[in-house]
Amino acid sequence: MNKAVRKAVIAGNWKMNKTPAEATELINSIKALIAGKDVGGCGIIAGVPFVDLPAAAEAVKGSPIKLAAQNVHWAEKGAFTGEISAEMLKAVGAEYVIIGHSERRQYFGETDETVNKRVIAALAAGLKVILCVGELKEQRLSGITSEVVSMQVKLDLAGVTAADMANVIIAYEPVWAIGTGLTATAAQAEEVCAVIRGVLASLYDASLAQSVTIQYGGSMNAGNAAELLSMENVDGGLIGGASLKPADFVEIINAAQA
Ligand code: 13P
Repeated sequence: MNKAVRKAVIAGNWKMNKTPAEATELINSIKALIAGKDVGGCGIIAGVPFVDLPAAAEAVKGSPIKLAAQNVHWAEKGAFTGEISAEMLKAVGAEYVIIGHSERRQYFGETDETVNKRVIAALAAGLKVILCVGELKEQRLSGITSEVVSMQVKLDLAGVTAADMANVIIAYEPVWAIGTGLTATAAQAEEVCAVIRGVLASLYDASLAQSVTIQYGGSMNAGNAAELLSMENVDGGLIGGASLKPADFVEIINAAQA
C-alpha cells in the first residue's frame, strides 16, 4: 500500500478565533470557493471553537466540510468546571476532535497521560480524533526528534485498538514551526511522518500503518502546501493561520487533490 490508498485530509485549526456569526461567514466563504469544484480527493475539516459549533453545523450543511472541536474531556459528565464532554460535542455537530495540540500541552498542562485519556474517551464516544504530536525546538536541536515523537505516539495511543485506529488521524506539528512562519522542509516533514508510520507498524502492523492519515502542521500555507503534500508520508495538513483566510485554505485543499 502507499499514499494513494490513504485519504488526504486538510483540516483547519481556527484556535481561539471567530464568533459564531464570524464562523458562519468564514464557512460560507469556503463553501463558495469550493462550490462546483471536485474536492472529493480530500477530506475537509474545520476545527472551530466550542461555542461556534452550532452555527458552524448549520453553515456546513450541504457541503463536504466536517467539523472538529479543539479539545474534549475524558469524563462522561460531572464536576469538571469549564470542560466539555464528547457527547456534548457530538450533540452540536462535531464529528472530529483535535487532541493534544502543542498549545494545550504548553499552556494548559496537557500531558501524554491526559492526552491518552482524552483520545480513549473520544473514540469510545464515537468521535474521530486528530492527535497532535511534535518536538520542541531544543529537542530538534538535540537530535532527539524521532525519540520524542515516537514516545508521544506510543503514550498517546496506549490502549487504542487496531479497530479504533480507523478513526484516528495523526498530525505531526513541530512546535517550532507553529505560528512562527518557520516551516519544516518537505524532507524534515517526510522524515518524521515516516517515523510515525514506523511506530504505528510496530504498535499494530504494517498494513494498518499504511492506512493511517498523517498530516503535517506548522506554517503550512498556499505557497508551501503542494511541496509538503507531495511527500510520500505526508497525507494532509493541519492548518492554523492560513485556515482563517478562505482563499488560502481552499488553495491548500486544491493542492491536496493531486
Ligand atoms: P500555523 O499554521 O498558524 O502555524 O498553526 C499550525 C497549527 O498549530 C495547527 O494546529
